Amino acid sequence: MNIAVGSDHAGVELKKAVVSWLEQNGYEVNDMGPYSEASVDYPDYARKVANAVAEGICDQGILLCGTGIGVSIAANKVKGIRAALCCNPEFATLARQHNNANIICLSARFSSKELIETTLQNWFAADFEGGRHELRVNKIEPCC
Ligand code: RB5
Repeated sequence: MNIAVGSDHAGVELKKAVVSWLEQNGYEVNDMGPYSEASVDYPDYARKVANAVAEGICDQGILLCGTGIGVSIAANKVKGIRAALCCNPEFATLARQHNNANIICLSARFSSKELIETTLQNWFAADFEGGRHELRVNKIEPCC
């Protein structure tokens, strides 16, 4: 599985930990930046990751910013993206099982490396359940 990863300056340190965790667990990683703590704008990196997933270049994406909110708002502007802000492991399980989320958004300022690793474990362990959830997910379309 090929995973696109991106952040802003607030998330760049934890992004390194995420990339290491992914590689140790056998995932192919496409680190789309940034690569330093210089200030950047989170929509630029959210769009890179979202486009890679929407275009099928990567299977799923992981985004980090201070809260995780900015990257999730930005990624969800790309057609075909279901980006879920997951503050704990349970959110990650449900985002996959019920929402078929294809990008997980994480908070760098309000979580720890350990919490993020457990959250990612749950994310990758869970599959979309389909059924009634598929009907609902199919109704998620731009409305104007
Ligand atoms: C950057 O200071 C911060 O605004 C950003 O990381 C993020 O939290 C935005 O949603």
